[in-house]
Amino acid sequence: MNRSQNTELETRVESLLSQMTLEEKAAQMMQIPFSYVPREEALRWARLGAGSFLHVLGDDARELQQIALGTRLGIPVLFGIDAIHGHALNDHATVFPSQLAAACSWNPELVEQMGRVTAREVATDGLHWTFSPVLCLARDTRWGRVNETFGEDPYLTGELGAAIIRGYQGDRLDGEESITACAKHYIGYGEAVGGRDACDTEMTYRKLREVFLPPFKRAVEAGVATVMTAYGSIDGSPFTASEKSLKTILRDELGFDGFVVTDWDNVTSLVIRQFVAENMDEASLLAANAGNDMIMTTEAFYDSAIRLVRTGRMDERILDAAVRNILRIKFEMGLFERPEKRGKPGCFACAEHLEASLTLARESITLLKNDGVLPFGAGVRRIAVIGPNADDIRAQYGDWTYFTHPAANRRQEPVRPYTTVLEGIRAVAGEQGVAVSYSRGCGVLDSTADDLDGALEVARGCDAIVLVVGDVPEQAGETKDRADLALSGRQEALFERLKTLSIPIVTILVASKPLCVSHVVEGSSAFLAAFNGGMLGGQAVAEALFGRINPSGKLPISFPRHSGQIPVYYNQLPGWHGDKYVDLPQTPLFAFGEGLSYTSFAYSNLRLDADTRAVSVSLQNTGGQAGAETVQVYLRDRVSSVLTPVKRLVAFEKVWLAAGETRELVFSLTREDFSLVLPNERRVVEPGEFVIFVGGSSKDEDLLSGTIFVE
Ligand code: BGC
Repeated sequence: MNRSQNTELETRVESLLSQMTLEEKAAQMMQIPFSYVPREEALRWARLGAGSFLHVLGDDARELQQIALGTRLGIPVLFGIDAIHGHALNDHATVFPSQLAAACSWNPELVEQMGRVTAREVATDGLHWTFSPVLCLARDTRWGRVNETFGEDPYLTGELGAAIIRGYQGDRLDGEESITACAKHYIGYGEAVGGRDACDTEMTYRKLREVFLPPFKRAVEAGVATVMTAYGSIDGSPFTASEKSLKTILRDELGFDGFVVTDWDNVTSLVIRQFVAENMDEASLLAANAGNDMIMTTEAFYDSAIRLVRTGRMDERILDAAVRNILRIKFEMGLFERPEKRGKPGCFACAEHLEASLTLARESITLLKNDGVLPFGAGVRRIAVIGPNADDIRAQYGDWTYFTHPAANRRQEPVRPYTTVLEGIRAVAGEQGVAVSYSRGCGVLDSTADDLDGALEVARGCDAIVLVVGDVPEQAGETKDRADLALSGRQEALFERLKTLSIPIVTILVASKPLCVSHVVEGSSAFLAAFNGGMLGGQAVAEALFGRINPSGKLPISFPRHSGQIPVYYNQLPGWHGDKYVDLPQTPLFAFGEGLSYTSFAYSNLRLDADTRAVSVSLQNTGGQAGAETVQVYLRDRVSSVLTPVKRLVAFEKVWLAAGETRELVFSLTREDFSLVLPNERRVVEPGEFVIFVGGSSKDEDLLSGTIFVE
């Protein structure tokens, strides 16, 4: 049922709305950045009846809420926070793997659990709303915010996005532990030209519908209560001012029935960054008319909105519609009955939550190369752990934690519990009587303490080297795009020096995104991507190295060989000469969907049923131990009136099999899976032949294929 069809709720909304003055309506649309305005100013906004504040932690939220409840109509404030991978701006909360790392698990259940735990902790802090999940696609990996995405694929992003939304919002928004999710950034933010954050996006409506809309459609189906407007533009119109995208597509077509919040200061951007409005009145009019209900951080909107209505330039019904959308969610959340969420006192980083973070970290570990050195066997008695990210919890956490966000209760010192890779290895190795030595070797950015010779000495005589390289928070996040994705500082030089010892090197990538590590991978005996593994990511890595867990991650994103190769996402459109460079292949170093295990799997007996659109396959664990395989189903439209991708993911399932076990899997494809978007923006199925691929990665050599005819 659409939210506005709940008559009891609508009666309450209409009754409250009818009592509101113009000023109260304008205030209800405001979201004030608590930590960016002077305290007195924030309190004044609360007295004016501001609808929302963001980035408020602890007692300040209580104080603001009391003020709001004491206003004429007593409409409760909605508190929003960026709880992006855990409620991590709070330094005592559980830090989960980044969205990108979480996506490596290809496990919607665990991602839903991440959402649930995060919601419980956010609610326990008395807050209501997280600006998550990010449903942008990371196709140009120079972009600083790759870590915040579920990777490059629309289908995987949609499935995991829906899962985390279920986790945040629970069965009911008024549940003690439920918080409101926010699907962002609507839309195409990741497609910024040159990977330059918040820059213009190169997009057409056909492309928007074909590639970027499907995850938002899934989010709306999952009941997401809020959506955030992206910074970019389409066909020359900023999304902030795009009625077509915000009203026609999002509300009328997808049926979104929550409220839309702008991103940070989008309205001012219309004047001073995108130059489509002369002044703030004009910008406010554009944004409100387009369908933005809540205005993040643009304080000038309040006066402008009032002035616009008073002078007859804006219809007050525009404000009514926005306020209605906001109040509906506040009522649905039960804020009028219980303005403060209660969560579960004592739950911050409790055993159950740590377990959820660890389980996800374990399943996110993605083994990409292994010449047999892993798991470490009895022959490995001494290990040297080397590298800048081996013992750096900031690097392991990545962006959006109390280390990186100015609004957080930012402490200089990391808060326990957490386990770095070095600590994890020490713990597991200790139990097995394996000696561990350590040297940082070099920095990632700062080279003042580099000691390559020292690292060499530490590693000399060991049976294996675990080299932990990557990036640091200064190289990832908003405004932190990179032109060059090679390992920074002297990390490659460190690797070169270690190579001279002729000891097997196992390289671990602790980073916000795929970096260009061809050279290092080539010279390593094993390579494992951990990305930002969260609080216990280091323990998960150690367990994988020693075979206590069997790696089961698969890449949700492709690894370029070189920055100049970007983009390398797998679902590109077919072409002619673009299959190679003069100096490099065009294929990625590691492809979407790739990931090894300590066991092996065999696919056979692919069957396609054109009538039911069922895809069946047999999967056998052909190795010597239990393990998980993520079975991936891809589709290619053989001949279509518009170009369609060489293949695109349409289904997947992660399956656990005992050694020797065989399982029959059946995937039921929907008619929509076979559809495409025409130049006139209509989604249709063009009858004809489709190639179905099934296997363990997006690479042709890993896939069985067959043809199906669809009417
Ligand atoms: C980001 C959003 C974030 C918001 C509030 C913006 O700059 O683009 O993703 O939710 O700030 O912190």
